[in-house]
Amino acid sequence: MIPFLDLKALNARYDKAFKEKFADFLASGWYILGKEVASFEQEFAHFCQAKYAVGVANGLDAIRLLFEAYKMQGKLQVGDEVLVPANTYIASVLAISQAGLKPVFVDANLATMNIDVSAIEVAITPKTKAILVVHLYGQLVAMDTVQAIAQQYNLLVIEDAAQAHGAKSNDYQAGSCADAAAFSFYPTKNLGALADGGIITSNDKGLVTLLKALRNYGQEEKYIAKYQGFNSRLDEVQAALLRIKLPYLNADNAKRLALAKRYSKGITNTLITTPTFATDGSHIFHQYVVRSKHRDALQDYLLKNDIQTIVHYPVPPHKQIAYPTYNALHFPVAEQLAQEVLSLPISPLLTEEEQNYIIAVLNNFKN
Ligand SMILES: Cc1ncc(COP(=O)(O)O)c(C=O)c1O
Repeated sequence: MIPFLDLKALNARYDKAFKEKFADFLASGWYILGKEVASFEQEFAHFCQAKYAVGVANGLDAIRLLFEAYKMQGKLQVGDEVLVPANTYIASVLAISQAGLKPVFVDANLATMNIDVSAIEVAITPKTKAILVVHLYGQLVAMDTVQAIAQQYNLLVIEDAAQAHGAKSNDYQAGSCADAAAFSFYPTKNLGALADGGIITSNDKGLVTLLKALRNYGQEEKYIAKYQGFNSRLDEVQAALLRIKLPYLNADNAKRLALAKRYSKGITNTLITTPTFATDGSHIFHQYVVRSKHRDALQDYLLKNDIQTIVHYPVPPHKQIAYPTYNALHFPVAEQLAQEVLSLPISPLLTEEEQNYIIAVLNNFKN
């Protein structure tokens, strides 16, 4: 069986360094918000070409806390509208609604599967105050277009970069091309921890100071609560392990891009549409997502041939049971994607032989 992603093997590459780090951690006796979190924040901010970073408990909290901070700064109010792509993981939308804001969906572009930037402007109303862009599957959104619209309408721009650690074009990079960005270190991410974890990056010092308090019960000083805060801190052990992995992230991303190019060159079956992407590193292939009108049959067939795949995602947020008020909305491209998308294995450890086998099986698929 070719696994979708062999996390055990991926992390085994760092086995020795992890064990040494954990021994140091045990010896230190310091468990929460210590030197590992502080160092990782600096290193990750530097990696993203951002000034600051704030480690938090997970990617959902990273987005949610950003909205909470902007509300406390008076830049957002309860009930304000936030534009969000209709094709995204549910967490993007949860972060908006949990902060008392209103998600307003913008349909996807069929080729990029990201937000359709040409549809952003028509979704703007007097209540629109922010855009949450999502660099879905690891592909940078066209931020120059988004920023031009945001300037014109005076909107905050927040990146959901949970799938895009290290994605960069010649002009901008995930984590430093908006007012602030949120990342997840869920174990399957291109930079994954061994538990939950997340981080916020920004150049805005005031925002970052506020977020550091918000993640820690609203306290800047111990036992002095300045705000009604949260308990959402990046774990010290996870920060230590992420520090070991970060220097290898660009190499892993390059491996993924090379595999993506091989897939796109090799897959010639007309029943399967390969993704559209720039080859400049602005897509770090968290997922390599093909489309097919016969997606479910294709997935069954691949599994019968010992190839694991995953559907990201079978139900778009506006059709989820959790959001009955949005169920009647219609976003044709996002809905089509939910029917057609299939993510192929694209682990940096996938061998060329394994990939050749996957390509051959795909090319033999018949309806
Ligand atoms: C696009 C997107 N946003 C947000 C999240 C939430 O991150 P987490 O799982 O760390 O809460 C994820 C991943 O799970 C994601 O893929």
